[in-house]
Amino acid sequence: MSLFKDMLHSDETLFKNEIALSYDFIPKLVPYREQQQRHMALCIKPLFNDMNGRNLIIHGPPGVGKTVACKHVIKELEEETDDIIPLYVNCWQKNTTYKVICEIAELLDYKFIHNKKTDEIFDIVKKMMNKKAFVLIFDEVDKLEDYDFLYMLLESIYKKSIFLITNYKEWATNLDSRVKSRLVPEMCEFRPYSKQETHGILDQRISYAFHDNVWEDDAFTLIADRTAKLGDIRTGLYLLKEAGITAEEKASRRITKEHVEAALTKLDNFSIKPSDNLEDDTKFILDIISENSGEKIGDLFKIYQNRGGERSYKSFQRKMKKLEQDKFVILEKSQGIGGNTTIVKKNTVKRLTEF
Ligand SMILES: Nc1ncnc2c1ncn2[C@@H]1O[C@H](COP(=O)(O)OP(=O)(O)O)[C@@H](O)[C@H]1O
Ligand SMILES: [Mg+2]
Repeated sequence: MSLFKDMLHSDETLFKNEIALSYDFIPKLVPYREQQQRHMALCIKPLFNDMNGRNLIIHGPPGVGKTVACKHVIKELEEETDDIIPLYVNCWQKNTTYKVICEIAELLDYKFIHNKKTDEIFDIVKKMMNKKAFVLIFDEVDKLEDYDFLYMLLESIYKKSIFLITNYKEWATNLDSRVKSRLVPEMCEFRPYSKQETHGILDQRISYAFHDNVWEDDAFTLIADRTAKLGDIRTGLYLLKEAGITAEEKASRRITKEHVEAALTKLDNFSIKPSDNLEDDTKFILDIISENSGEKIGDLFKIYQNRGGERSYKSFQRKMKKLEQDKFVILEKSQGIGGNTTIVKKNTVKRLTEF
């Protein structure tokens, strides 16, 4: 048996802990975001004194640490107190008021939501929440179909801090005035990391994920530079992992520039965000756009209807706006004989965000 043990512990694998390269891994420290985390803590601070907290809109492009910084703050808060309860909701998955309220109920361990309407569930949730203080984090809010729940929470929950995370600063300007006037949020910007910071973050990950001394310097530099250029740390994590796998496949004990180049080729083959995440209908619409790129939105809607699409024109337009936000399509205003129209084009620019 010691024979096997030796094998597993030998340098046969370059990875010490591959999980450290997954996108939702939370490292012990989140460097270069101290100022933002302090800002979050300050918004939460009044809750410690039994007062209402402050609200925050956290914005910045994909892959700059918005989610991880928030989760880190939550972790520290949980270590500090049981009286302030953080709830984290990803609005990509929970994209309607009903789904968000159900999710909150579930996070509060309330199980009897079946056959209940949104208002009924909210009444119960409200009673539960008003016994304590809450930090409510809504991530990816730009993916929401409606945000009535924000109004409901702002109106009915006494002690809370609401954090809204978005890729688009402008998202806030489009908020309903009745929500805006109650939210009065502070803004917290996450800028892309500098080259030096990107190096630092990836270097930290390497120490978690790989055995010592498996990375050749120039191989690492290549990855860190490319990541800094693209501005999304996920790219770096992806490249670190792919290069490591390639090196292992070649039975190499070191990860070299050659392995990184192979990983970079894979990255270049990446098209836009894979559409597997999308709801079926969205994928259906996207397929129509791919086949008819450059057509007018009205004509695309006709094709959609002819193929059995059931959305209204308004809802179809909304979907188009969303696809534009997610960089799947480009919308261009055009003036024609019949008045203004929108031309829809498929976005062919390669982009690596969530995958
Ligand atoms: N300052 C940092 N320190 C350590 N890891 C980071 C840092 N910033 C981002 N990351 C990592 O990069 C990836 C993307 O970060 P994330 O917070 O998900 O980005 P965003 O929410 O801004 O799209 C995650 O795996 C995260 O752990
Ligand atoms: Mg995020």
